Amino acid sequence: MSKIVDLSADALGWVDERLPVVKAFKTHMSEYYAPKNFNFWYYFGVLAMVALVIQIMSGIWLMMFYTPSIESAFDSIEYIMRDVEGGWFIRYMHEVGATFFFLVIYLHIFRALLYGSYQRPRELVWIMGMVIYLALMAEGFFGYVLPWGNMSFWAAKVIISLVGAVPYVGESIQIWVQGDFMISDSILHKFFAFHVMLVPLIIIIVVFVHLIALHQVGSNNPDGVDIKAKKDAEGIPLDGIPFHPYYTVHDLVPIVIFMMLFFAAIFFFPDGGGYFLETPNFIEADILNTPEHITPAWYYTPFYAMLRGVTIDFFGVSAKFWGLVVMGGSMMILMFLPWLDRSPVKSMRYKGMASKTMLGLFAFSTVALGVLGVKPADWAPYWVTPLLTMVYFSYFFAMPFYTSFEKTKTVPERVTMGAGH
Ligand code: HEM
Repeated sequence: MSKIVDLSADALGWVDERLPVVKAFKTHMSEYYAPKNFNFWYYFGVLAMVALVIQIMSGIWLMMFYTPSIESAFDSIEYIMRDVEGGWFIRYMHEVGATFFFLVIYLHIFRALLYGSYQRPRELVWIMGMVIYLALMAEGFFGYVLPWGNMSFWAAKVIISLVGAVPYVGESIQIWVQGDFMISDSILHKFFAFHVMLVPLIIIIVVFVHLIALHQVGSNNPDGVDIKAKKDAEGIPLDGIPFHPYYTVHDLVPIVIFMMLFFAAIFFFPDGGGYFLETPNFIEADILNTPEHITPAWYYTPFYAMLRGVTIDFFGVSAKFWGLVVMGGSMMILMFLPWLDRSPVKSMRYKGMASKTMLGLFAFSTVALGVLGVKPADWAPYWVTPLLTMVYFSYFFAMPFYTSFEKTKTVPERVTMGAGH
């Protein structure tokens, strides 16, 4: 036994002289001091990594049987579902995985809003996160088109036609993007290349940078207290604990719960009642058969509702273009949060009533817009979507004011532990 231990220590030493694996492990795991008061909201970073691995693994397997051409894409999906051994399971893993990925990411982002994790010095962690988020939105869209179901086709048509709404140059750009005068094989091939290669590559690289940037400045925590401000004689933060083994073991609990929910959805609820996978996508793309309501998957619907909510032409430019501006703006504005928030404190625990109310209204408007986005355009009175869009944007535009003027509570010097610790 001791011979084996010696041998593996030698092998590790040999590698370490050539590649600093031990140093990297120490810096990022066993000697990375994370705040000891992490709570429920801190599970979603690791779960996002789990979701990313699930998507990559199941995606590689799907790619072995999928054919990217409009003649055979739909049939190859049917083949995977019916004939390939365990193919249905791999496909549903990928499809339910997309929903779970977005769910986890939305909770991960909400945590940052709750505890001011985007504030100085974590601006780059936040911006890298936003780049990942935008890349994920693109990834989901490209993937949705690949099965060449009827909703795939019409979703591609609606979204690509938005490019055409850009004044003067839109139409030519649209034809260039399509590589044809209509949605055809050319776009399916492009989307396949983006979905399996370009965008995953970007996501993997940026996740790496996201974590390096986080470890450079250290994690925030539910109190927003800087744990590096109070260290012991050896320079270790008093409120920090080594990430490994403490959080590596601790994180196994949410991973197991995530897996249980994930597999329950795959086995018992794979189409999510039409919300994970829309009913029109069970029939092949048909240029002569427009689905009754064209709606995207649930994770896009707040933005889709805002796009559809703009119905008036301004300055001689079409409402469609302004809708595109509002939709793009509603996503891009998140990037600027580190500079919009002027509060002297990070965590919502110590911010004032105005911040709490505005965050509540923001969350409400996003969910309400999400509901409107899955319903037909005339489901609610015409003024509801513009009103909710204004509430959504006011969270950002009013932030420099309410965060400067509201009364905040005193932040404790050391982190506080919740009940049960
Ligand atoms: C594939 C996607 C992503 C992965 C794998 C990922 C992974 C992680 C991990 C492992 C952490 C540390 C653990 C934790 O704090 O939960 C973290 C922290 C963080 N992430 Fe992400 N993340 C992703 C996307 C995003 C997105 C989309 C945003 C925001 C737009 C974001 C913003 C942040 C912030 C601000 C922190 C620091 C939180 C703090 O210290 O309080 N991340 N991320």
